Amino acid sequence: MIGALPTAASLYERVRRVIPPIEWQAFADDIEAILALKRERSAVILAHNYQTPEIFHCVADIVGDSLALARKAMTVDADVIVVAGVHFMAETAKLLNPDKTVLIPDLGAGCSLADSITPEDVRLMRQRYPSAPVVTYINTSAAVKAESDICCTSGNALAVVKSLNAPRVIMLPDEYLAKNIAAQTKVEIIAWKGRCEVHERFSATDIRELRDAHPGVTVLAHPECPPEVVAEADFAGSTAAMSDYVGRYKPARVVLMTECSMSDNVAVDHPEVDFVRPCNLCPHMKRITLRNIRAALEQNGHIVTIDPGVAERARWAVERMLFV
Ligand code: 13P
Ligand code: SF4
Repeated sequence: MIGALPTAASLYERVRRVIPPIEWQAFADDIEAILALKRERSAVILAHNYQTPEIFHCVADIVGDSLALARKAMTVDADVIVVAGVHFMAETAKLLNPDKTVLIPDLGAGCSLADSITPEDVRLMRQRYPSAPVVTYINTSAAVKAESDICCTSGNALAVVKSLNAPRVIMLPDEYLAKNIAAQTKVEIIAWKGRCEVHERFSATDIRELRDAHPGVTVLAHPECPPEVVAEADFAGSTAAMSDYVGRYKPARVVLMTECSMSDNVAVDHPEVDFVRPCNLCPHMKRITLRNIRAALEQNGHIVTIDPGVAERARWAVERMLFV
């Protein structure tokens, strides 16, 4: 039996501490329309941890970091998948669901890391270091994934590198993630020069100033941050790992050195934790809104397609990662 849909008013109870009533008024109508459209179209919404709380907590069916979204995308039982995230995440969902319709509400939702490297760059790196396997961060285009031996995310990068049993590995394209992984292994890591435009802006000085201003604060950092930031933090991990850390240790006061919406989304489930919020906004993640998710479901756009020759090789690299 199909149950009644939750009302926007009942959902507001969940997010009222992070969304002021005045903002909520603009969301309620779109939320109710999206819930009805999902049912009508047999659609699910995958949302990354950086999506705003009205998306993350009120319309999403599956939430998580890039690794969790990829894993859970394999088990989706629906005709349509709407990705509330950036374009490489929508491509990954399509790679793992070639027969489903995958929609991204805004085609301009890119990523500075994905934009930092081309398939030709990967081929040149292979020529330069012919014996080194290529590990490609999931934050890349399908065409770049197709040139790699295996993918990784911030959540499994070390395990993926170790799984290759190679003395030397090419790790593309995030220079800082590569350096942060190199600090944890004897494997020689050859890096590229890509950067996340959000995380590269955090500095060790930021952390020292935060510790001065908020004595006892626990500092969690994403591994896309510069190594000096990771070195000064109490813990570094993927967005899911940061969220799990807060749930497990319940620090009295915490700062997440990552994208703004993370703190809001985690705070919803941990009212006892005080979040200090010096956040950096990801302009690409923020292109996704309730309004364009609704339009995506109403108009069946924008449909994500991947060249079949590219898709087969890229899927192999993603699936190989999921077995590590
Ligand atoms: P996670 O896989 O840790 O969620 O990171 C994705 C991302 O884009 C971070 O900037
Ligand atoms: Fe890309 Fe950085 Fe935005 Fe993540 S936060 S999507 S890595 S630009």
